[in-house]
Amino acid sequence: MPEPGSAADVVRTWDARADHYLRLFRDELDGKPYDREALHAFAGRVAEGGRVYDAGCGPCGHVTEMLAAQGLDVLGIDLSPRCVTLAGQEKPGCRFAVMDQRDLAGKRLDGLVSYYSLHDQPKRHLAATLASWAAALRPGGQLLIVVKEGTGDHVIDDPLGNDLRVYWAEFTEYELRAAAGSAAFRVDDCTVREAYEDEIPTRRVYLSATRRRPRA
Ligand SMILES: C[S@@+](CC[C@H](N)C(=O)[O-])C[C@H]1O[C@@H](n2cnc3c(N)ncnc32)[C@H](O)[C@@H]1O
Repeated sequence: MPEPGSAADVVRTWDARADHYLRLFRDELDGKPYDREALHAFAGRVAEGGRVYDAGCGPCGHVTEMLAAQGLDVLGIDLSPRCVTLAGQEKPGCRFAVMDQRDLAGKRLDGLVSYYSLHDQPKRHLAATLASWAAALRPGGQLLIVVKEGTGDHVIDDPLGNDLRVYWAEFTEYELRAAAGSAAFRVDDCTVREAYEDEIPTRRVYLSATRRRPRA
């Protein structure tokens, strides 16, 4: 069994739950106007045709598709091969690849979105993940992070009901702000919304940031 929260553990758990997750969430953005607005606002901050990664795209591929429809050059990336296969079938007009969001240095991206992709690995990895994103983005590049709010950082029974133990980490606004600031980002905005009625009843945090220019 891989170490809980390791890259191999993400592959183990997400390959096993990808099909179920797709059935549950393929239409979820339809009922989330706040999220659609946040993604549109992100796209508006990136120049037309800008190179963007949807980090932890999952099996639905809906964030990748939404950003592509806004005129961005988007690649959806995920550690789970099953998620990438399903996303490609679900959104055949979009591009997806197996890749670790913590290993993106030198990609010269104009933007990166992490829509609930931080929860599968321990909080102690947050700084390294944000450092990878800072190293992937050109100066002035745009970052959008969406997470569930909380303090959890442990192995739990799969809340989706699969017979699995999965890693689950939650974050506060203050943790995200501090980690982004330490990783060469300027935090432009950070908002928190209550859960919609049909969501797991946890507040959601939205952080927008810009990759700072290196000091001369
Ligand atoms: C909760 S799902 C969210 C999927 C998608 N963003 C959505 O909202 O439908 C989290 C996804 O992040 C991926 N993930 C977790 N850690 C990752 C990493 N280090 N690199 C790439 N993908 C990762 C998982 O495989 C999973 O598909």
